[in-house]
Amino acid sequence: MLRIGLLTSGGDCQALNAAMRGVVKGLANNVDELEVYGFFNGYKGLIYGDYRMLTARDFSGILTQGGTILGTSREPFKEMRSPGVNGVNKVDEMKQNYYKLRLDCLVILGGNGTQKTANLLREEGLNIIHLPKTIDNDIFGTDMTFGFYSAVNIATDAIDCIHTTASSHRRVFIVEIMGHKVGWPTLYSGIAGGADIILLPEIPYDIDKVVGAIEKRNKRGSGFTIIAAAEGAIPKEIAKLGKKERKKALAEIGEKYQSISYKIAADIAERIGTEVRVTVPGHTQRGGSPCPYDRVLTTRLGSEAARLIMEKKFGYMVGIVDGKCKKVPLGDVAGQLKIVDPKCQEVEQAKRIGISFGD
Ligand code: F6P
Repeated sequence: MLRIGLLTSGGDCQALNAAMRGVVKGLANNVDELEVYGFFNGYKGLIYGDYRMLTARDFSGILTQGGTILGTSREPFKEMRSPGVNGVNKVDEMKQNYYKLRLDCLVILGGNGTQKTANLLREEGLNIIHLPKTIDNDIFGTDMTFGFYSAVNIATDAIDCIHTTASSHRRVFIVEIMGHKVGWPTLYSGIAGGADIILLPEIPYDIDKVVGAIEKRNKRGSGFTIIAAAEGAIPKEIAKLGKKERKKALAEIGEKYQSISYKIAADIAERIGTEVRVTVPGHTQRGGSPCPYDRVLTTRLGSEAARLIMEKKFGYMVGIVDGKCKKVPLGDVAGQLKIVDPKCQEVEQAKRIGISFGD
């Protein structure tokens, strides 16, 4: 008898269900007896014992279904050691529920914060496999996370739609793409959508350079400009401040504007008196069904996780390195972020064809 637990934690994304389906089908087809326990609403389900035994039927027909059949929640890593509801010791409770169900392995699907807690549970002696989910593609140790390309497709569609109306009205448009800390979704959807200016958290912008790029286009007769700006785009004068001052300056922007894109819009309008509009696709980027790439990726990652479980190899994230599935020790990667290198090929190539990064 093989007993596994499954949980999805953190912000959701497309292909979480497809990944769980891959794990369960990979095991069900190869072991005689399998019990699968699904914990509801992320780590909360494991802490407070909210779970259900799942059957093959639960995993049928979910390859294309967005969201997560288990539900999810954000349970910050830094609060894992502090008491939960009614003073419970969260780590002890998670361990007790794992042992009570006599699990052979717990498969945890989530992003960076989730991965840190997964590693903590590994250090506490549980058998853990982590699958890298996030539209942000910022998990260190894997070239790709699932959800990323599905979100890029949606963000690209948004930019495409804005393109036509921007051109008709000869306006400047800012499309704000998800990503507070990293700019992968903005970089990829910006390039795919033919944005003229791309603003990333990793490349602080100079508003005069942004305005210069708009004016250059206007002089050429282009008439309109599309800016793809990450949620975490940051002006260079704020980026160079110390941590405390930077936090204060960003909080001030947060008080005055709905988001950074609205500040950029106001700053552009003030300098060149042009009409600037902001579009925020927001959580649509995490919604809907997974794109074919993510369906393939999660089927591969899930199937590979099943193999590791059957071989009793635990304590790994299943990632993609150079196109191949690879088991990556959780202890080597937990707590690290994969950010966009301002000198990476994608940025250099985009700059060569005239895309401005406002730097
Ligand atoms: O999961 C990552 C992410 O999608 C970020 O890109 C985004 O800033 C954030 O989640 C939004 O989170 P929430 O759903 O909690 O508002």
